[in-house]
Amino acid sequence: MKTFPESFTWGAATASYQIEGGAHAEGRGESIWDRFARQPGKVYKQQNGEIACDHFHRYKEDVQLMADLGIQSYRFSFAWPRLFPQEGRFNPEGLEFYKRLLDELEAKGITPSATIYHWDLPTWLQDKGGWTNRETVEHFVTFAKVLFEEFGSRINSWITHNEPWCAAFLGYGFGVHAPGHTDWNEALIASHHLLLSHGKVVELYRSMGLKGEIGITLNLSPAVPATESPEDAAAVERSDGFANRWFLDPLFKGSYPQDMLRLYENRFGILNFIKDGDLETISVQNDFLGINYYSHNIVGADDENDVLGARNISETVNVTDMGWGIHPDSLYHLLTRIKMEYTDIPLYITENGAAFPDQKVNGKVEDYERIKYLHDHFAAAHRFIEDGGNLQGYYVWSFLDNYEWAFGFSKRFGIIYVDYETLERTPKESYKWYQKVIKSNQIVT
Ligand code: NOJ
Repeated sequence: MKTFPESFTWGAATASYQIEGGAHAEGRGESIWDRFARQPGKVYKQQNGEIACDHFHRYKEDVQLMADLGIQSYRFSFAWPRLFPQEGRFNPEGLEFYKRLLDELEAKGITPSATIYHWDLPTWLQDKGGWTNRETVEHFVTFAKVLFEEFGSRINSWITHNEPWCAAFLGYGFGVHAPGHTDWNEALIASHHLLLSHGKVVELYRSMGLKGEIGITLNLSPAVPATESPEDAAAVERSDGFANRWFLDPLFKGSYPQDMLRLYENRFGILNFIKDGDLETISVQNDFLGINYYSHNIVGADDENDVLGARNISETVNVTDMGWGIHPDSLYHLLTRIKMEYTDIPLYITENGAAFPDQKVNGKVEDYERIKYLHDHFAAAHRFIEDGGNLQGYYVWSFLDNYEWAFGFSKRFGIIYVDYETLERTPKESYKWYQKVIKSNQIVT
């Protein structure tokens, strides 16, 4: 048996575009994902979030399922286009859904953890350059201000951004996420503006004297070398600089990593979008760091990759339905590294989980691989806590099967199965297992 600290928070996570649906309800405007999904060839079967899990209409049933599960906290995100559907227009009706959701959560004693930005930028902002336009930072502050004014006393846990690496590099660099651009330089600019907007929103939160906690969620993937060659070791450094240090260093050390600045400046010229004072803003004190962990990257040197000179080597055994290798030990090493190299503020796993090709047979979804995945990652987290690590909570991704971005509905991460024909929810075996973990606050080893 491994017992977790009494104050440990067990939760589950979702995001607005992935579950809500209600795409035209209560004056919601268009997001970059609505637009991206319409372009042929971008998303599996051109699927979109028009209906998704229809959580917009079924939130009561969903919150009941959360209560039955026993989670203490639910992580969700706000859809920016509900509140600001068009340029210069605030839509107060767009708050109504979240009021209803919060009422329901409060009635069941579930603490909300709110992500302000989980990738659904309004298209009117994208038309002005999206995250490559420094003005978007100010619009983000305006959006956050409305949320803090409205919900600042009801929500005590705020996450400014979810996975800015993905928003910047998958969206503007590799074109696999909205808005679908393929320009590495744009991605760098976007990454800087995302970080800057984080700092500004934390400053705003502090200036409003609100009593809760605020932080950011990063997707962190340890890089491990493919071989013992010095070339691969150097590629690992660059890959780590690209995916992890480019975000951790400015947030916790107040500067971008020198080696990456040099690499990018050699390639793209002076990064003049980084202005005086920006890094002070970005390195504002956080109350916690959220970590999304799924897998590690096996990295080898590769001259064909003209920016990083590195590539990820895909794994074939012991992988999830995403093709991601299963490496719970890397979670332990990652947490330990954060503590040793960056910060001892409270950490939360704000996402961890796995997709498997689940099937409902005779009313049951026997997802034993997911149970093993979660069990082994919980154990890794527990090991970190035993070492004295400051990990305060764990949110499983995801509460429901949902819209997995470019993979549409083809990948199932939920601990609840969703039948997309009927929208019926069926708790999987992993849900029942997680229920016992939460109740006992223990895992059996
Ligand atoms: C991270 C993202 O935050 C979430 O939106 C996504 O569905 C999961 N990872 C799984 O890929």
